[in-house]
Amino acid sequence: MQGVRPYGRLPEGSGFAVRVLGDPSMGTSFGAQLDGKGVQVTGSAGTWTLTGPESLGPGWHSLSLSAGSPEGTVQRTVKFLVEGGESSGPPMPPPDEPTVFFEEDIRPIYERSCAACHGEGSNQSFLGSFEAFSALGQQALDRVSAGEMPPPAAGVAEPLTEDEIQLLATWVQEGMNP
Ligand code: HEC
Repeated sequence: MQGVRPYGRLPEGSGFAVRVLGDPSMGTSFGAQLDGKGVQVTGSAGTWTLTGPESLGPGWHSLSLSAGSPEGTVQRTVKFLVEGGESSGPPMPPPDEPTVFFEEDIRPIYERSCAACHGEGSNQSFLGSFEAFSALGQQALDRVSAGEMPPPAAGVAEPLTEDEIQLLATWVQEGMNP
């Protein structure tokens, strides 16, 4: 599931429309909930548009998405703040701060285990930048979790440890922060 990022702050009264891009192989099952209530979903496999209430009240909101995929159901939750006036009541707890970052945590793994084949000028998809790696983030996680990347037979790159796979999974789950 791509195109979902934790977003920042929105002014009070903001409307709500989100486009979710996915892989057509995910099939047609897709659901979304805003603050625990169903959200209208239009579009078809791969590109869904969510339309929520005309305006959102101040405070923290939480958007949960779930989509079918060949491996089962993929879920993502995005929290965001709508800023309000004095009427917004006591401050709500902030959303979870991201804990995993591309440059700090993922790039070293890339350099060690992926760059040999996915670097500049290689025949394989380039993965050596934040933009490139995050565009294929979910696929990278799937391929690594399945033990397909780095290809074991090639013997040119060390496989990832369980901890590193978990780190990559968390990075994707948190919305792929740079
Ligand atoms: C020994 C060379 C080699 C290494 C090292 C390697 N890959 Fe690959 N990768 C390939 C080849 C060849 C393909 C294309 C064939 C395929 O999809 O299986 C590929 C395909 C992929 C794809 C699919 C790309 C697309 O455009 O759909 C992803 C994602 C990927 N690799 C991620 C990774 C990640 C992440 C790492 C490091 C953890 C890695 N690879 C390490 C050789 C490598």
